[in-house]
Amino acid sequence: MPTTQLPNTSCLRPDFIWGVSTSSFQIEGATQEDGRGPSIWDVYCRSGEIRTHDTGDVACDHYHRYREDVGLMKTLGVQAYRFSVAWPRVLPLGRGSANEAGLSFYDRLIDKLLTAGIEPWLCLYHWDLPQALEEHGGWLNRDSVFWFANYASLIARRLGDRVKRFATFNEPSMFSLFSRSLGKPDRGCEDKLHLMIHNVNLAHGAAVDALRANVIDASIGCIHNRQPCRPSSASEADAAAARRLDVYWNAAYPDPQCRGTYPISMRGAIEPHMQPGDLARICRPLDWFGLNHYSPVYVKARPDSMLGYDFGDKPPAVPLTPIGWPIEPDAFRKTLQEVHTNYGLPIYVLENGYGDFGQPDQTGAVVDPGRIDFLRAYIDAMNDAASSGVDVRGYFVWSLLDNFEWDFGYSNRFGLTYVDYASLRRTPKSSFGWYAGLIKATRP
Ligand code: NOJ
Repeated sequence: MPTTQLPNTSCLRPDFIWGVSTSSFQIEGATQEDGRGPSIWDVYCRSGEIRTHDTGDVACDHYHRYREDVGLMKTLGVQAYRFSVAWPRVLPLGRGSANEAGLSFYDRLIDKLLTAGIEPWLCLYHWDLPQALEEHGGWLNRDSVFWFANYASLIARRLGDRVKRFATFNEPSMFSLFSRSLGKPDRGCEDKLHLMIHNVNLAHGAAVDALRANVIDASIGCIHNRQPCRPSSASEADAAAARRLDVYWNAAYPDPQCRGTYPISMRGAIEPHMQPGDLARICRPLDWFGLNHYSPVYVKARPDSMLGYDFGDKPPAVPLTPIGWPIEPDAFRKTLQEVHTNYGLPIYVLENGYGDFGQPDQTGAVVDPGRIDFLRAYIDAMNDAASSGVDVRGYFVWSLLDNFEWDFGYSNRFGLTYVDYASLRRTPKSSFGWYAGLIKATRP
């Protein structure tokens, strides 16, 4: 297919929002500047667990180069930019005194966005918990609900005159599953996983209230990573493992937040942590459902692991991205339909994207037809979902820039813009021009 070919967007709303997403730890750098406190990711990066031994110390240096990055967004023509605030930048100890220098970075970024005509979408938590709070038990301490609500209230009071779109958490199921030993034989942590799930759900509800109390016209949601969990073989054991993971991956947060109930199979394990009134504290009215979607997850049984599963082989016929993720746009269409049916909220796709290892060619250009094909196929699938009645109102590519991909360090690249980490020079890839062309065609 020619790389200039655009997807079918005929069933999307006329006011459909096109955007790009990033997160604080993955792009900002400046981890020790202007009074920022350490986060759990600064500590984890020094633990030797990151395969490439990378850290977030410099990352894309967005802290100093945000003007250039907003310029890139302007060239793209996006209507919205989703970013996160680094909690330890604004509250170095996670609570107590605010750090004015950290807050003023977000003032500058937001002002720049607004001047460029780009709406800021602010996520409160994209995994960089202040280390000081981790030392008090982090999300396993029920006080985390108050810590988070106070942080939300600070952000709302300080930035809510200009920011109206707020997400409480990014992918709560991912950071709870991964930090509570996904795939590792650690049965002892199972109860901690349930405690963490419940506290994070309570923190979500408390933050919604804090945001609403301080920003009258706030539009609030939570961002969930929802991927179908499929068995990697025809065995009943793998099917049971996939069903079990599906509950933790896809329902443990949206069900209580949007419907006021935990999935039946989890209720017994949550019960010891439940206090009277908790479900009403979690289930606060929301304006939208934030969906991150990439690909289905293939699961096999692993009886010695905590939840009895591990990642299994992908079907050989399924095409993969260079980093090995299945390309299955139809799973995206079905996921959108499922979210629509289950939760009935307007949906914003706040992450979708393609990971590779792409490098500049001899001329310095970064040519990425695979990413263009991926985005086209997934946007086509979203259009199909919209044609079947799904209320989808926006789509944000992950990501504006190549960035720090957690356990994979800087090796995996998801950006529409290539970042040369030695010089920090940004080079828009061919997918950047393609996405700009799409936006221009749909919102002339
Ligand atoms: C989900 C996460 O929110 C983001 O931080 C990550 O980089 C992308 N997916 C790609 O893995």
